[in-house]
Amino acid sequence: MEKSKFLTSLVALLLVLPYANATLSIPKAKKHFVLVHRPCHGAWSWYKIVALMRSSGHNVTALDLGASGINPKQALEIPHFSDYLSPLMEFMSSLPAHEKVVLVGHEFGGLAISKAMENFPEKISVAVFVTALMPGLTPNATATLYNELLADTGVLTSLDNRVAYDNGPTNPPTTLSYGPKYLAVKLYDKSPIQDLALATTLVRPIYLYSVKDVSMEIVLSRKRYGSVRRVFIVAADDNLLKKEIQKRMIEKNPPDEVEVIQGSDHMTMMSKPLQLFTTLLVHGGCHGAWSWYKIVALMRYSGHDVTALDLSASVLVGHNFGCFAISKAMESFPEKIVFITALMPGPTLNASTVVYTQAFASTGVVSALDNRVA
Ligand SMILES: *[C@@H]1O[C@H](CO)[C@@H](O)[C@H](O)[C@H]1NC(C)=O
Ligand SMILES: *[C@@H]1O[C@H](CO)[C@@H](O)[C@H](O)[C@H]1NC(C)=O
Ligand SMILES: *[C@@H]1O[C@H](CO)[C@@H](O)[C@H](O)[C@H]1NC(C)=O
Repeated sequence: MEKSKFLTSLVALLLVLPYANATLSIPKAKKHFVLVHRPCHGAWSWYKIVALMRSSGHNVTALDLGASGINPKQALEIPHFSDYLSPLMEFMSSLPAHEKVVLVGHEFGGLAISKAMENFPEKISVAVFVTALMPGLTPNATATLYNELLADTGVLTSLDNRVAYDNGPTNPPTTLSYGPKYLAVKLYDKSPIQDLALATTLVRPIYLYSVKDVSMEIVLSRKRYGSVRRVFIVAADDNLLKKEIQKRMIEKNPPDEVEVIQGSDHMTMMSKPLQLFTTLLVHGGCHGAWSWYKIVALMRYSGHDVTALDLSASVLVGHNFGCFAISKAMESFPEKIVFITALMPGPTLNASTVVYTQAFASTGVVSALDNRVA
């Protein structure tokens, strides 16, 4: 009786804040997330995800590909697709042999992470394609996909986009630059206006890599690329890489998991950062976060933003210690706590110690049934 009451009180429902870095020395399932941007963008496009990842204790690396973000190269200096990808390839090869990362690619960045999966399958625990190109293993898949992207989106001639002809007007165009109108209508249409403003100041031209160059660079095998676990995140309201295009890629080259983020424009990391963050944590294998998966799904279903935090290494310990983390968060951020049902140490002196001791005594958890201590 006492025991079931206690177990009921262990059910801690939801905390919504990315800031509750528990200062208790709980073993954390720390992960390393590596984020790869779409064309003309850079590491900067992930700034919200980087902040959320860091505040929840994970290691995160947002890379600039060639001539992107603050990479010192200019687009015309890197006319080969391999040069564009080289910052990611160098980073992957610099990782210690035993380290596995969660590799995340956005849109065209899907080709970059596919190449990394082929070259470094043993260093990737899961590859996440965020409304991204996912070429797959059929012959000529990359060329087909790249051609479809150019044709379906009409990106080269759309609205106020511009192409340059540095090799003369009779040769193919060399670079593409986005206009502010194109960014507003096709990419950032559901994102905060601040993020659109940021983008208009930071986008850079990209070299227009030939289909031949790209498809020769991205050659994938079942044994290597095919051995890496894949998750596809559908941006349901993407105005550039439309849902139908995303679905087509999923059908042609089915990943292990598909997640859909409703209300996301093309820039999921800008328009739906919390949902993307939570999805990355869950699929990145962050225990603690995944133990909330039912609550997260229900909360999302009822239209709320929800962030499940990665506080601990197991479900039971997560609940036990989670109550202290929540209490700590309540103390630090009283205005940010929405709803909590959990063990509550209370404001009396030594209350945490007493609750902690009682929890062990009343449940006898240390010696109960087939539990083991080492
Ligand atoms: C993050 O990962 C990189 C690459 O393995 C490593 O050099 C760095 O020390 C890590 N940072 C933290 C804070 O763990
Ligand atoms: C590969 O795809 C491209 C573009 O879709 C096409 O032009 C080319 O003929 C294809 N090559 C082969 C060998 O199928
Ligand atoms: C705090 O609580 C623990 C466990 O109940 C007890 O052993 C300890 O003496 C208490 N300390 C103080 C200062 O009350």
